[in-house]
Amino acid sequence: MFDLKSYLASQRQRVDHFLDERLPLASTRPSILHEAMRYCIFGEAKRIRPILCMAAAEAVGGSADRALQPGAAIELLHTYTLIHDDLPAMDDDALRRGRPTCHIKFGEANAILAGDALLTLAFEWLADCPAPPPHVPGALARELAAAAGSQGVIGGQVEDIAAEGKAPDADLVAYIHLHKTADLLRAAVRMGAIATGGSPQHVNALGQYGEHIGIAFQIADDLLNATSNRDVLGKNTGTDVKRGKLTYIAVHGIEVSRRHAEARINAAQELLRALPGDTAPLAAIADFVLSRQS
Ligand code: IPE
Ligand code: IPE
Ligand code: MG
Ligand code: MG
Repeated sequence: MFDLKSYLASQRQRVDHFLDERLPLASTRPSILHEAMRYCIFGEAKRIRPILCMAAAEAVGGSADRALQPGAAIELLHTYTLIHDDLPAMDDDALRRGRPTCHIKFGEANAILAGDALLTLAFEWLADCPAPPPHVPGALARELAAAAGSQGVIGGQVEDIAAEGKAPDADLVAYIHLHKTADLLRAAVRMGAIATGGSPQHVNALGQYGEHIGIAFQIADDLLNATSNRDVLGKNTGTDVKRGKLTYIAVHGIEVSRRHAEARINAAQELLRALPGDTAPLAAIADFVLSRQS
């Protein structure tokens, strides 16, 4: 039987070790910036995107090692989105990864700049990652840029902010969830396959898997915001209702939201059948996306 708990723990350790080795030291000038970058990266984080990236490499029959650096780059970019998401101009949150948010600890200007620096560093790391044939050399950077840009995460964040206080709208929440969250999870699995020379057909199947679990992941985030508590979650709860966020729950209610998320997980599981490598980790992670408590 595949043991997800120990798999996640050991992969998380690999990612944390890589990040610790490769991030500039906190003592490097400008110290306040490097301290802020490390502070945000090393809170209580699941590292689900880099772990997905490595698991996808294995699912196409490749080595997880080649997906470690691309996965770590995705984690840098993801952490930048969290820092900016928590700013007063956006969700105005005070707790993240079990600690005061970046702007609370280091001030707003440093939080903006730490986010900018993590985003930039992500592409520096990707520039050193090969994408073997049939992929073109810049394929990994292109994937991440498209997922993170104006028609990806940033586009989703723009609509998320604009939708605050608006009436329930199923199409709008679908757009927001797809882009603010699912795009990056989809990119993570596609990039794992690309980094190991996976076929375009397998990259696409993984992309569909990533989109399904990405949407379920954000539905779970909405459910946890409504039903969990800050000690378990490491971030404040009840904040979506307070800010009038257009969540999946606001549109569909808790029960239907759970069912839609389950349907996404089932669809994701189906897609794994077409892959040639070890898909046990991706299958277990898909279930974890819904059962997770934080
Ligand atoms: C939080 O992401 C933001 C969402 C997209 C829901 P995670 O739940 O992966 O947060 P960390 O990285 O473990 O802190
Ligand atoms: C998640 O947004 C997506 C990004 C941060 C890009 P949320 O605002 O829903 O996530 P949490 O709940 O603050 O982690
Ligand atoms: Mg937000
Ligand atoms: Mg938020």
